[in-house]
Amino acid sequence: MLNIGIIGAGRIGKVHAESITYHVKDAQVTAIADPFMNEETTLWAKNLGIQNIYTDYKEILKDDSIDAVLICSSTDTHADISVEAIKANKHVFCEKPISQDLGKIKEVMEALKDSNVKYQVGFNRRFDHNFEAVRNAVEEGKIGDIHIVKITSRDPDAPPIEYVKVSGGMFLDMTIHDFDMVRYLTSSDVVEVYAAGTCLVDPAIKDAGDIDTAIITMKLANGAIAVIDNSRKADYGYDQRAEVFGSKGQVAVTNDTNSTAVISTSEGVTAEKPLYFFLERYMESFSKEVSLFVRAIIDDTEVPVTINDGLQPVLIAKAAKKSLDENRPVLLSEITM
Ligand SMILES: NC(=O)c1ccc[n+]([C@@H]2O[C@H](COP(=O)([O-])OP(=O)(O)OC[C@H]3O[C@@H](n4cnc5c(N)ncnc54)[C@H](O)[C@@H]3O)[C@@H](O)[C@H]2O)c1
Repeated sequence: MLNIGIIGAGRIGKVHAESITYHVKDAQVTAIADPFMNEETTLWAKNLGIQNIYTDYKEILKDDSIDAVLICSSTDTHADISVEAIKANKHVFCEKPISQDLGKIKEVMEALKDSNVKYQVGFNRRFDHNFEAVRNAVEEGKIGDIHIVKITSRDPDAPPIEYVKVSGGMFLDMTIHDFDMVRYLTSSDVVEVYAAGTCLVDPAIKDAGDIDTAIITMKLANGAIAVIDNSRKADYGYDQRAEVFGSKGQVAVTNDTNSTAVISTSEGVTAEKPLYFFLERYMESFSKEVSLFVRAIIDDTEVPVTINDGLQPVLIAKAAKKSLDENRPVLLSEITM
């Protein structure tokens, strides 16, 4: 049984703690740390059977009985805590993005060079049943050579402005999952990015220096072309679709819904809206990614989402921002670490 410590008891830290407790075999959460640990979170952690509750994550790193940590704290803390955890010889699962700062990601890569710890990045959408099915069809050669990838990724509502101000911008905060999805579905790297972006949802987002609507096109190393469309607000809900088109055909997935009921009357035909947001749509993928992290530690195999898989979407996001700012296609090679 692996002992896991969770660093950060916010939204995603709680999701992981619960999914490990209820769904992940061969692992248990024995400690959790958050500087803002309050009465409610302490009670929640106790009810989950977590024995050690701290305000300082260093207590987790000092505990020899802990095999691995999940870094679920705010993004600006991920890289430093990663380096400390690697040095403390803990296996690390780090939420996305590793950092908004490429220099910080490099520090984590350096720390990993001298260690034997496993390091996995939290790109959970790779473990969504729909996207796995697309990737499998592509890998099995069913659609032939890849020509076009299309990803639609629209949130049901914009985040609070306070969050927008510190998120690093839409490409680093939201599109980063879609950049990873392009790489995952095609097993190819991105070589060039061209981004168009604007603010149509909320002028306050523009005032905060960000965009809320974007189309990003990418040229891939395998010769294919990809396009992502993003919006911070789709009135009908969380819109998460993907399609890969190739020389032999195409594979596409649509949104998950609460039911497949379609009601047909003289008024028209209606179906369910997409599941509300990431906690509803991707819950299963959160436990699957951590189950595979635990398996990689126990079996001593490679983790399914490596540090390079964590780095590449940050490089693509930086290239997209540069493209938007300079209104031109940007090569990934222009983005230096
Ligand atoms: N994979 C996904 O789909 C997904 C979804 C949501 C969030 N995330 C990522 O997870 C991270 C956290 O997001 P969230 O939505 O849970 O945010 P959140 O604000 O709800 O939680 C972050 C928590 O980290 C704590 N924290 C800050 N500094 C800390 C430190 N030094 N040690 C321990 N805890 C510390 C905060 O007190 C807070 O409770 C972000 O990097 C975000 O990008 C990923």
